[in-house]
Amino acid sequence: MAKPKLPKAGTVEINPSILDSDFARLGDVLAVIEKAGVKMVHLDVMDGHFVPNITIGPPVVEKLRMHSKLFFDCHLMITDPRKYAPMFIKAGANNLTFHIEVEKRPADLIKMLHDKGTTAGLCLNPETPVKAIEKVARLCDMILVMTVHPGFGGQKFITAAAKKVRVVRQLVGPDIRVEVDGGINVETAPTVVDYGADTLVAGHAIFSKKDRIAAINALRRSVQQATSNGRD
Ligand code: DX5
Ligand code: ZN
Repeated sequence: MAKPKLPKAGTVEINPSILDSDFARLGDVLAVIEKAGVKMVHLDVMDGHFVPNITIGPPVVEKLRMHSKLFFDCHLMITDPRKYAPMFIKAGANNLTFHIEVEKRPADLIKMLHDKGTTAGLCLNPETPVKAIEKVARLCDMILVMTVHPGFGGQKFITAAAKKVRVVRQLVGPDIRVEVDGGINVETAPTVVDYGADTLVAGHAIFSKKDRIAAINALRRSVQQATSNGRD
């Protein structure tokens, strides 16, 4: 199977987070979102140290890989991304995003990820300033701006954190993806796209709805309307 690729920057992509989905039926969950035409899926990895919650590890990613051709965007909310990155890559992750708050040598880790054949993402918690990634942001393929405190789905969108998207977009230019994670729904999606985001993680907004395909389409429409309004 050809390796799924990170879509080139410039298109808005809905990136469903499975965190709020039925973990007993993850294979079916991926099949449904694939049917909705999404290109990527956001896999939230939590270790109970960096965040007060525990989710999935490499064995689950490996099994999911057998069921899906989607681009696997792994969000590592773990204190030691350097140690576990090789296991996630071997399991079939396509992008690994780590948090700047836990990595002293981010440039080195980004290089390691590239050398091992994945793209690299760098994540900022809501209270972490953009300055923290200034020197290395352009080495990445994607910058992830958290708009909730990591750990749980279904939290309220933090507007002040979302405003950093503008600064990040200015810093990285048009060729690097800017991803937003937390509290994205049909109201907040247009705002973050207006700020310069092009990769929208959404958990609750999709998996709290019975019809997931309709929920994904509603997110797409909210963004399209916003961009066409902006052109008027
Ligand atoms: C939270 C995770 C998110 C989460 C987003 O720590 O990183 O990916 O699933 O969930 P919603 O979209 O419900 O805010
Ligand atoms: Zn996430």
